[in-house]
Amino acid sequence: MEPAGTPLVEMKNMSIAFGGIRAVDDASLDLYPGEVMALLGHNGAGKSTLIKILSGAYKRDAGVIYVNGEEATIANPRDAKKYGIETIYQTLALADNVDAAANLFLGRELRTPWGTLDDSAMESEARKVMGRLNPRFQRFKDPVSKLSGGQRQSVAIARAILFNARILIMDEPTAALGPQETAQVGELVKQLKAEGIGIFLISHDIHDVFDLADRVCVMKNGQVVGTASTGDVTKDEVLGMIILGKCPPGAIPGPGAMAIAA
Ligand SMILES: Nc1ncnc2c1ncn2[C@@H]1O[C@H](COP(=O)(O)OP(=O)(O)OP(=O)(O)O)[C@@H](O)[C@H]1O
Ligand SMILES: [Mg+2]
Repeated sequence: MEPAGTPLVEMKNMSIAFGGIRAVDDASLDLYPGEVMALLGHNGAGKSTLIKILSGAYKRDAGVIYVNGEEATIANPRDAKKYGIETIYQTLALADNVDAAANLFLGRELRTPWGTLDDSAMESEARKVMGRLNPRFQRFKDPVSKLSGGQRQSVAIARAILFNARILIMDEPTAALGPQETAQVGELVKQLKAEGIGIFLISHDIHDVFDLADRVCVMKNGQVVGTASTGDVTKDEVLGMIILGKCPPGAIPGPGAMAIAA
């Protein structure tokens, strides 16, 4: 079943080619408030490229992006942030030698009326946002290099949502994490959903995806095979979409769905 209302984001007929390769070929994708939309597909399917068009890192050859029902101009990462689109890359891009608060405000530091760094205001804001995400987090005085993978992930997410992200892109957030930390990221995702934030989750782990995602979109050779609610398809059917490009009855087929022999 498709969700109702106005999507947070709608990408329509996106295409981009590198040299002769159609990395993304007429792909359409949408996302609703409080929804997790997983993007699945083999290596090189075009997942990261499609999402980098949305985050302003790549310039598309064709396609239109709507945010809250209105056409959006996204030509660079700054534009994307203006629309509340934040990306968390696998590397997290944290400054390892400083603490959580310093990371949250990196490049956007709070200052006192005298122009000096307002450390106490930054720490108190950091405690607020981290408390919302991960109430057990207490290590505000440690450099982030001392934190666990899951804790580092929560600092990266807190940094993204501190400046009012409505749309969060997570590219393989649990790829480098153990089971316990993966569960912790799952809790963070549920918290963000409850706040109405929409999440694009790129993942290779189909079990993770079925635990966390409301819908899945499968890509193959730059094209969308199909989109489905996780309740309308089985894991085996999704594997069939990934491997064979075969779109099951519970999914809405895209341009990349294998033609069915008559
Ligand atoms: N900057 C680039 N220059 C040239 N080709 C690129 C570039 N970025 C991606 N590609 C090509 O576009 C295609 C899609 O790549 P993309 O990284 O989007 O795949 P993916 O689905 O994210 O794969 P993975 O699961 O390995 O991350 C691939 O053929 C890749 O080689
Ligand atoms: Mg990728």
